[in-house]
Amino acid sequence: MAWINCYFCCNINDSDDEKEEPKTSSVNSINRDYSWERYSLKELVHATNNFHEDNKIGEGGFGSVYWGRTSKGVEIAVKRLKTMTAKAEMEFAVEVEILGRVRHKNLLGLRGFHAGGDERLIVFDYMPNHNLITHLHGQLAADCLLDWSRRMNIAIGSAEGLAYLHHEANPHIIHRDIKASNVLLDIDFKPKVADFGFAKLIPDGITHLTTRVKGTLGYLAPEYAMWGKVSESCDVYSFGILLLEIISGKKPLEKLPGGVKRDIVQWVTPYVQKGVFNHIADPRLKGKFELDQLKSTILLAMKCTDNSAENRPSMLEVVDWLKKGSNTARVKKGVGNNVKDMDEDGDDEDEETDKTDTDYEGYGMELYGARMTRVTSQRKSSSS
Ligand SMILES: Nc1ncnc2c1ncn2[C@@H]1O[C@H](COP(=O)(O)OP(=O)(O)O)[C@@H](O)[C@H]1O
Ligand SMILES: [Mg+2]
Repeated sequence: MAWINCYFCCNINDSDDEKEEPKTSSVNSINRDYSWERYSLKELVHATNNFHEDNKIGEGGFGSVYWGRTSKGVEIAVKRLKTMTAKAEMEFAVEVEILGRVRHKNLLGLRGFHAGGDERLIVFDYMPNHNLITHLHGQLAADCLLDWSRRMNIAIGSAEGLAYLHHEANPHIIHRDIKASNVLLDIDFKPKVADFGFAKLIPDGITHLTTRVKGTLGYLAPEYAMWGKVSESCDVYSFGILLLEIISGKKPLEKLPGGVKRDIVQWVTPYVQKGVFNHIADPRLKGKFELDQLKSTILLAMKCTDNSAENRPSMLEVVDWLKKGSNTARVKKGVGNNVKDMDEDGDDEDEETDKTDTDYEGYGMELYGARMTRVTSQRKSSSS
């Protein structure tokens, strides 16, 4: 592949003490021309104050992410590979390869990279409003910056980014790690889907692949967690979990007293069955949401998280559904909604910063056992 070739060629040619200015290249991907830069280590060391602790803005499986400012005054985020193992280097190559192929308003843009010696660095546009998890469960949760309309715009934008990956990118791309910490927010709170380290390119005509399970507990589709069966609908499932998280402010997995884990779908299902959708909304919204839109978005999330992959909608259908909901809300704006302020004491959820953002490479037998029993019995009854 052109990008892999390009990366390896840069890898060979780069050296740690390179003094040259960034080189600009142009990649023609999906009929679009855009440019990326090869950064010298010196430039990135200078931009990030030698990867100073104070510049650190994120930590993930891949390594640390640092804020920086280039010599031209542009704010950047620099992702630095933690350890140089073959696996980590492959992740780096995959991410650069994929980022080089995609360009969409709702996908985090690649500015460039550096590969030389023991350093693997990816340079992105800096997103000043951090990631979604910080606003839902983390440091900025108490500031309540995400009102209903911001939340719905984040949902629609993230869905559009994913729909582009699934339906427009060529070959199609499955992200495999859709979650709140991988949705970044720009200055206007517009979402950018990020972190393509686990992404998979899907050749034409292939409906699914069987792979080693990667991703994050709580967001994994059952057929993927159990059997490693990956297709676009695994991203749809994760997106459904993300939708419920955005609406409710709840975490995808909750530890109940006694250590039992409950996923967000299990939590939400009884409310849906009783039709009390307003109980699902994040109490921090204080009842300020469009009830019809809330209901329609929750029903969509339930479809996305259906145990059977074949019952889930495509991301194009998800985008349509969400946009219809938002049009209805726009028409009704001004009418107000008849939902009383939520009882803020009613929710016993402890909104601490998420520290369990664990990449998961095992098989989810324990967690998915009960759900899969349901899938298997559904399959049996439909085939008999
Ligand atoms: N461009 C960026 N602007 C601002 N913060 C970022 C940016 N890229 C990453 N981050 C922060 O770093 C975290 C980890 O980045 P991510 O790309 O998800 O790496 P990993 O592969 O290590 O999970 C993100 O959740 C976010 O908080
Ligand atoms: Mg991440």
